[in-house]
Amino acid sequence: MGKLDGRVVVITGAARGQGEQEARLFVAEGAKVLLGDVLDDLGEALAKELGGDSAKYVHLDVSQEADWVSAIEAGKEAFGKIDGLVNNAGILRFNELVDTPLEEFQQVVQVNQVGAFLGIKHTAPAIAEAGGGTIVNTASYTALTGMAVVGAYAATKAAILGLTRVAAMELARKKIRVNAMCPGAIDTPMSNPAQLDPNADPTEMSAALNDLYKKLVPLERVGKPEEVAKLALFLSSDDSSYITGQPFVIDGGWLAGVSIF
Ligand SMILES: NC(=O)c1ccc[n+]([C@@H]2O[C@H](COP(=O)([O-])OP(=O)(O)OC[C@H]3O[C@@H](n4cnc5c(N)ncnc54)[C@H](O)[C@@H]3O)[C@@H](O)[C@H]2O)c1
Repeated sequence: MGKLDGRVVVITGAARGQGEQEARLFVAEGAKVLLGDVLDDLGEALAKELGGDSAKYVHLDVSQEADWVSAIEAGKEAFGKIDGLVNNAGILRFNELVDTPLEEFQQVVQVNQVGAFLGIKHTAPAIAEAGGGTIVNTASYTALTGMAVVGAYAATKAAILGLTRVAAMELARKKIRVNAMCPGAIDTPMSNPAQLDPNADPTEMSAALNDLYKKLVPLERVGKPEEVAKLALFLSSDDSSYITGQPFVIDGGWLAGVSIF
């Protein structure tokens, strides 16, 4: 028995990183997954590896409403219904606020915030039609605390917590639970770009990240995308049946307080 037997879950940004690990874990737990991303080659390859009975890839730029409409249709056609969503896609840009070009700020809002809104808007009616289900939004520790040079990103992640609470209130009577994850530093291409550089050594970079986070994080290491996937599983399964509208921090204790060690 898997924890997601019989479920059909849309996962955005599923071609790599946390979304990829969520897809792998959800399929292992019995779900069928509709994978959306803009990295079509990677997404197609993952869906193929997971098998056509369990996974389908669609090109889904989360900032584009038309893409959502066709993705939901494709998901229903492939698997008969949709009863879950993990709003995972996101982008990060580094700039102090006074140096941030307006276009960059708007791009981050368009993907992270508008993308999450469109995901809720277009998936919730399908989940309601299926009799209820779950939505998990990926925010960040930067939704809860400040960090220099990620102003646009932090603003969108705080907005995702607002969306989560309102969606939980509005969708509870449709039997849809909505929660958010606030990961700390997680070892994916977003925080470890060496994973994308064929000339770099990602293991060396992971070790460097660990050295950095040893000083900042009580658990003394960077997090793994597989660990965030387990939280997404908890929030998507019946194990969290009485939980909605909440942010869940997964950060190795980073936000717990000021470390003096
Ligand atoms: N890595 C971290 O340290 C960290 C920390 C906190 C929160 N997060 C959040 O976790 C989520 C997953 O990030 P990750 O760490 O796996 O990084 P990642 O960069 O490896 O993965 C992000 C995925 O989103 C996809 N994506 C980007 N723009 C898209 C768009 N317009 N439409 C559809 N897909 C798009 C990318 O192609 C990629 O596959 C993001 O929302 C990110 O903000 C990451």
